[in-house]
Amino acid sequence: METPHPTLRFEKLPLQTERLRLRPCLAADAQALFEIHSDPVVMRYWNSPAWTSIEQAHEAIEHDAKALQNGDCLNLGIETLEDARLLGRCMLFKISRPHRRAELGYCLDASAWGKGYMSEALRELIDYGFTHLRLNRIEAELDPRNAASKKILERLGFRHEGLLRKRWIVNGKISDGAIYGLLRPRWRDTRTERPT
Ligand SMILES: CC(C)(COP(=O)(O)OP(=O)(O)OC[C@H]1O[C@@H](n2cnc3c(N)ncnc32)[C@H](O)[C@@H]1OP(=O)(O)O)[C@@H](O)C(=O)NCCC(=O)NCCS
Repeated sequence: METPHPTLRFEKLPLQTERLRLRPCLAADAQALFEIHSDPVVMRYWNSPAWTSIEQAHEAIEHDAKALQNGDCLNLGIETLEDARLLGRCMLFKISRPHRRAELGYCLDASAWGKGYMSEALRELIDYGFTHLRLNRIEAELDPRNAASKKILERLGFRHEGLLRKRWIVNGKISDGAIYGLLRPRWRDTRTERPT
């Protein structure tokens, strides 16, 4: 039997990058979050349908706050430093302490795409995962048709590890899951390769 681990504490939050702050979502973010997750363009490759009620935003915010408190999942809103606008979310979930791994997820309002925001946010979150959470591996799953997401992961140093066929059924449509992984040594290399 595995030794139980003490509750994981997410210290040193919020996180900050050149243009962004990554911080837990609050009740006041419900409308902005709903607008993001109810957009069929944003949700095209998501593994659950677009939201149809603002209640879903309130439930997600409450769920994330509890998960943060319990050390189960680090789910952060992404806001601009310039005008504190909530642009999206990024998360480390399915955190396994014994195996020192977690899964990465992310989404951004369509009006903010193509400006490098998500790459900037994920770099910070991944650094946090490998340093503060002492992870050994971060994994991600995406719809193989999701070209923007694939590009981000490859740029961050993730490697394609395999394909899980016909893994999802969302709104009656079946899709595959492409699995990507980033290991600690590779992350260290990408850090030294980054321009200062
Ligand atoms: C995936 C997503 C987060 C990308 O956010 P973003 O801030 O636009 O990402 P970035 O600007 O950092 O990088 C995106 C890169 O993909 C490229 N790209 C965008 N659409 C593309 C397409 N259809 N084909 C190929 N490349 C594409 C961009 O040009 C950019 O590369 P570049 O910087 O070399 O020009 C955003 O599109 C999104 O939220 N999508 C919906 C939710 C989602 O699919 N999440 C992932 C689930 S696994």
